[in-house]
Amino acid sequence: MAALDVLGAVKHYDDGRGLRRVPAAIEFTSATGRTTALWGPSGTGKSTLLNLMAGILVPDEGGIRFREDDGGTFDVSRASERQRVRYRRRHIGFIFQFFNLVPTLTVAENVALPVELNRLGQREVALRRLETLGLADCANRFPETLSGGEQQRVAIARALAHRPAIVLADEPTGNLDADNADAVTELLWQEAQQAGCSLVVATHNRRIADRADEVIALA
Ligand SMILES: Nc1ncnc2c1ncn2[C@@H]1O[C@H](COP(=O)(O)OP(=O)(O)OP(=O)(O)O)[C@@H](O)[C@H]1O
Ligand SMILES: [Mg+2]
Repeated sequence: MAALDVLGAVKHYDDGRGLRRVPAAIEFTSATGRTTALWGPSGTGKSTLLNLMAGILVPDEGGIRFREDDGGTFDVSRASERQRVRYRRRHIGFIFQFFNLVPTLTVAENVALPVELNRLGQREVALRRLETLGLADCANRFPETLSGGEQQRVAIARALAHRPAIVLADEPTGNLDADNADAVTELLWQEAQQAGCSLVVATHNRRIADRADEVIALA
């Protein structure tokens, strides 16, 4: 069982009036099959924490530790940039509020990208997920021709394509209307569970947070 430990990881920002420590030092573990919500108002450090977990940012205090299936551990917070890129590419799936699909690639190419970067032979499996997400007819279209809800479902398919241990989602429904938000939330939970990964969702929406096994409140 893979797991990601957040050990009081904090980033220092200078906001002009002095040093700010973001987020407030917290500890939790995101393990296979578990869902965690990072819940709190704007500016409490939800995105910062997700970026620390993904190894995009490096903490100034505390640490981030990834534990692999086979018992090996990887200290994300002390690793070189190169090692962090490899860790992120292999073990992390990321879903953004504004989808962040590659505009010059078709839907199918976007979804296949993580599989190809990892040189995995799971392209067909990854593309089959487009069907379960109701996107079979969209495979050869470009992202800009899709609705917001459709683009976010493509982003879910892409985040899961390489079977990552951990899926990190930053306000994944923040840019969708209520109906689409509910549908995307449902699919995200369903697909993450099916894929057997852990899911960490940053949200200020209490209704979404309450769906998680554990709610980490940031203040
Ligand atoms: N690169 C940076 N330089 C300086 N301050 C930053 C930087 N990035 C974030 N911050 C500050 O850190 C705090 C936390 O930001 P963060 O984006 O993590 O919050 P958030 O909880 O995701 O907010 P939101 O709900 O609005 O997305 C904010 O006060 C922000 O201004
Ligand atoms: Mg944010």
